[in-house]
Amino acid sequence: MYSHKPLPFDKELDGISKKTNEIHHGKLYKGYVDKANEIGEKLGQLRKEVISGTAQPSNQTYSQLRGLKQGETFAVNGIYLHEWFFGVLGGDGDTSKGPELAGAISEKWGSVEDFIKYFTECAMAARGWAILAWDPKAGELKQYNGDAHNQAVWGCIPVLALDVYEHAYFIDHGSDRKAYIASFFKNLNWEKANELFTKASQIRLD
Ligand SMILES: [Fe+2]
Repeated sequence: MYSHKPLPFDKELDGISKKTNEIHHGKLYKGYVDKANEIGEKLGQLRKEVISGTAQPSNQTYSQLRGLKQGETFAVNGIYLHEWFFGVLGGDGDTSKGPELAGAISEKWGSVEDFIKYFTECAMAARGWAILAWDPKAGELKQYNGDAHNQAVWGCIPVLALDVYEHAYFIDHGSDRKAYIASFFKNLNWEKANELFTKASQIRLD
């Protein structure tokens, strides 16, 4: 069972309104949790039919199992990505609170400021998610975009996950996605992101 975790901060964010968070966290993120649980239940029933040989034959164009399996990864990625996103908000954007992460970013992209410039443009080019991830095979931080929830590089662990679907910013910024991205960095909790980075960067899979 997946659970609808509470918003990890209770303060008002700068440029991301309470109303946006209520809808985004309370309805949309919750929707992925509910659907993932519904799919899990249906898969449990279907598994019995698969094992007993009474299920519709599986098929890559359409079958009941395919529909559920497609929905499963979409819903679970929807849960995890939103938890990564909300998990690093609620801070004050002070990079000095994330020294290891800021150091690794500067080593790769020159400075945190230059990285934010680059990440902002990547997020402008995304149709869903812009991610800064620890890549355990490459052994370094990587920036990857994910159009929709099902596009990802396997094995990577998000450190910063930025939701750039319109529902994340239209109420507060209209179509000005760049202003919303600036708000994300203004409210970034570098301490939390640093914690994630230090844990993730211990993993090497090369
Ligand atoms: Fe979202």
